[in-house]
Amino acid sequence: MPTLLWTGKMSLPLKLMLNMGNMIAWISGNARDSSAMKEKMKEGYNGACSDYIQHYDESSSFHYEKISDSLTQKVECHGKEVVDVGCGTGILSFTALEKGAKKMHCVDISRFMLEKCREKSIAKGYADDVITFHEGDVERLPFPDASCDVVFANMVMGMVPNQMSAIAEMARILRPGGRIALSTHGPAHYREAIEAGVRSLNMRYFLGHRFEYWPRDENEIKAFFKLAGLDDTQTSRMTWVDEFENGGKAFDFFAASTGLWWHHRLPPEIRNKETEKTRAYFQRKHVTEITCDVVFAFASKK
Ligand SMILES: C[S@@+](CC[C@H](N)C(=O)[O-])C[C@H]1O[C@@H](n2cnc3c(N)ncnc32)[C@H](O)[C@@H]1O
Repeated sequence: MPTLLWTGKMSLPLKLMLNMGNMIAWISGNARDSSAMKEKMKEGYNGACSDYIQHYDESSSFHYEKISDSLTQKVECHGKEVVDVGCGTGILSFTALEKGAKKMHCVDISRFMLEKCREKSIAKGYADDVITFHEGDVERLPFPDASCDVVFANMVMGMVPNQMSAIAEMARILRPGGRIALSTHGPAHYREAIEAGVRSLNMRYFLGHRFEYWPRDENEIKAFFKLAGLDDTQTSRMTWVDEFENGGKAFDFFAASTGLWWHHRLPPEIRNKETEKTRAYFQRKHVTEITCDVVFAFASKK
């Protein structure tokens, strides 16, 4: 079951308001339908909510490269069969290949992101027997039991309603001795942007629905790993602040990196107008700094 209450940092009045909405969502059943929640997320990364997703690499690769470099540094990829879950445009997948991965399997729920990944792979000249592409859900990975050596998930888990089931699924496909390595959204991740984003939302479209976002701290991830029967767990947390020239540029980063998936609740004809309203809010309120709070977690399969 997805967690009902908001798990990230946020100012108290906003948190109370969101959690009240979440409770209504629970009672009405909206917050329990995790398939519907994932479908909305998928649509966001497919570009249904905003054209900003078209600029994912251009506006946000600096951010994901930094995280993916930290993640891949701690795991041996050389000669290994590797799965990148929620691969997006392949930022981590290509790093793993550069580090000598023997075979790379890229999985994403969004066809749009996966196609970008495939296009980049073709441009880089990788052969079909080195890299494969799978449109799929982290909770139902299209691989047999014990079939790979390393599973990565770079900044994906915060968007998955059933995180325990996702981690159990990643553990399932690992060979004994294989390594799981993930980075995920810590409680303060994007806090200024989320706060500004929620404040500028037209709340009448959102009340009674839970936002599809579940940041986690190190202890929560450790507990999931333990329940999945994983061993030799290590976690760490890295926080920093990304600074932008102005509020508009900060918004461009935020919108490209998320695809503004929660805008699926807005009627399609007002999405662009609402998006520009939020961008103007970021400008007006000088939201030029965005906190990044990333939890890294590693474990082995016995
Ligand atoms: C923030 S992006 C990170 C992408 C990539 N890992 C990177 O480092 O650039 C999150 C990605 O997770 C994918 N995603 C979200 N929920 C998913 C799920 N249930 N199963 C598989 N992929 C999912 C999204 O489509 C998106 O491409």
